[in-house]
Amino acid sequence: MKILAIETSCDETAMAIVEVKNRGKKTDFKILANEVSSQIEVHKEYGGVFPALAKREHIKNLPLVFAKVLNEAKTKEVNIKKEINAIAVTTGPGLEPALWTGIVFAKDLNKKYKIPIIPVNHMEGHIFSIFPKKGKTFSVINQKEIFPMLTLLVSGGHTELVLIKDFMEYKKIGSTRDDAVGEAFDKVARMLDLSYPGGPEISRLANIERSAIADTERKYVVPGSLTEDDGPSTSKKLNKVLLCADGNNILSEISAIALPRPMIYSKDYDFSFSGLKTAVLYMIRDIGKLTDELKRKIACEFENAAIEVLVHKTTKAIKQYNIKTLIVGGGVSANSYLQEEMKKRIKKDKLKTKVYFPSKSLTGDNALMIAIAGYFQYKNKKFVKSHKSLKLKANGNMSL
Ligand code: KG4
Ligand code: ZN
Repeated sequence: MKILAIETSCDETAMAIVEVKNRGKKTDFKILANEVSSQIEVHKEYGGVFPALAKREHIKNLPLVFAKVLNEAKTKEVNIKKEINAIAVTTGPGLEPALWTGIVFAKDLNKKYKIPIIPVNHMEGHIFSIFPKKGKTFSVINQKEIFPMLTLLVSGGHTELVLIKDFMEYKKIGSTRDDAVGEAFDKVARMLDLSYPGGPEISRLANIERSAIADTERKYVVPGSLTEDDGPSTSKKLNKVLLCADGNNILSEISAIALPRPMIYSKDYDFSFSGLKTAVLYMIRDIGKLTDELKRKIACEFENAAIEVLVHKTTKAIKQYNIKTLIVGGGVSANSYLQEEMKKRIKKDKLKTKVYFPSKSLTGDNALMIAIAGYFQYKNKKFVKSHKSLKLKANGNMSL
């Protein structure tokens, strides 16, 4: 069968067309078209996504992206009824005005061509985003051995740990009590006067700082004098490094740049990032004038703190639930430090868990992931035949 997928939950207007073949436990996918039209430039000057503007842009972009994917998949709109068997559309979570544009587009196609519609949860899409690799084809294999699975979903709106006992069977074990981690990255980036979206910018500065720290270590530390037990945080390491050195000024500056790791040792799997964000705000206020060097140090320590909490809680859940497969999805899964630290920790703790991150082009919002999740929903008969169905409504807070 062929599925057309539509994604408009935030600031990307995305569509994809896939061909799916069910071979029992194995499902083969062929990507016929996959387009993402980003609105980043439009939202940049506001420093965040502006819902009314997102809606206007989606309405403008949807017909253009539709024409593009049809062309890419060598399909003419007049033949669409014959060619496309179902339309998968994101119905939540996300910005409701933005979600509605995609839903209305799907409804219009249903009105015209009577193609069934599959409502899809955006977060379920992020889980399935790890399957496509390089190339146009990929398979999803449903083997008992890959379960129980755990997914860490980290985006601009979510920070969740979800157990997957079987595909489509979810149990949320923890989530953020306030800000999502991506939101914290974006807000801290704004405090540091970095451009939107803030995540990649923070990550870029933090990586520069880490290379500088590595240079300092090479310069001052006796080889072997620092061990893994000095703690996972670079800032802690650096304090020790500088204690070995004799630059008092640097030492006091660095000591000031230490941020909390909120809820890291709490007994549950919940997160909290708003306190971390506020700690950065106070730190900037206390420092006064920010130099580029201080911005890099703050970005690095903020990233250390956020990632340390994510890695610690995820590893704890892996141990408690005897997790065979870990999937990390959502915009923040693009973070290179998160990827490195997660893999490092799993290795260090001698866990056999297989870890998967999406390929780079699929960490952000896209419609390919919605097509895959949509197919499995369709297989479970979770589709509607008419645009009049009450299931076709935007739900900004939809849960897995
Ligand atoms: O999943 P996504 O594209 O949209 C939502 O559904 O929210 O996630 C966007 C979020 C933004 O907060 C962005 O700053 C963050 O993902 N992000 C990153 C990185 N790339 C994107 N955060 C940290 N490091 C990155 N490299
Ligand atoms: Zn997303």
